[in-house]
Amino acid sequence: MSMERLDKLLASTGRWSRSEVKRLVREGRVLTNGRIAASAEEKYDAETTAIAVDGEAVRLSRYVYLMLHKPAGVLSATEDGRGETVLDLLPQEYRKRGLFPVGRLDKDTEGLLLLTDDGALAHDLLSPKKHVDKVYYTRVDGELTAEDCAAFASGMTLGDGMKCLPAGLEILSAGAESEALVTLREGKFHQIKRMLAARGKPVLYLKRLSMGTLKLDEVLKPGAWRELTDQEAAGLRGVSN
Ligand code: URA
Repeated sequence: MSMERLDKLLASTGRWSRSEVKRLVREGRVLTNGRIAASAEEKYDAETTAIAVDGEAVRLSRYVYLMLHKPAGVLSATEDGRGETVLDLLPQEYRKRGLFPVGRLDKDTEGLLLLTDDGALAHDLLSPKKHVDKVYYTRVDGELTAEDCAAFASGMTLGDGMKCLPAGLEILSAGAESEALVTLREGKFHQIKRMLAARGKPVLYLKRLSMGTLKLDEVLKPGAWRELTDQEAAGLRGVSN
């Protein structure tokens, strides 16, 4: 159990400054466990205390977890002089919190991008040792075959000596252009594009669908985002346990 001052707890949501919290408390607008809080300096346990401001329950999560449907044309960086970044798609209150994307998608890649300020979770999700599968949908130029699947499964070594862990390639349709699902446990630079180029079948389109238990919510249009549900966040945290 860790006790924190009420003003610190509420300010950590990014919605109010500590002095705003003091004013809210003075005005009797903050309830803790159903009672009007007497002082912003009182200490509470964030895990067990129900806090409401103006009658609305406040979620006191130490960390923020957002799911973004990354559109093509936007960089997976926190700042970049050369163009729009995924943070530019978020409202100011989230940008202030120091969120960063968990792993990078190429500028032209679309799909699931997790943004958080939880560095330990990000590390675990990206570590090949933790075996978190990332699944991508891809469309390639050329006919995918069983040999391509076998090459992916055996762990490819690319022309520049880059060694890839065994990866999944599930063909959805094969023809002059083919569609497939690719499953990776790591995230090397341009990895899928380089693996498929090495097989002579360059990527035409790439979209990440999932990361571990977290699946892209197809209700989200490219550029849209939402907070993870408690269940989704708990599923990801299961990786670190
Ligand atoms: N592999 C790639 O080549 N690009 C991505 O954006 C992600 C995986």
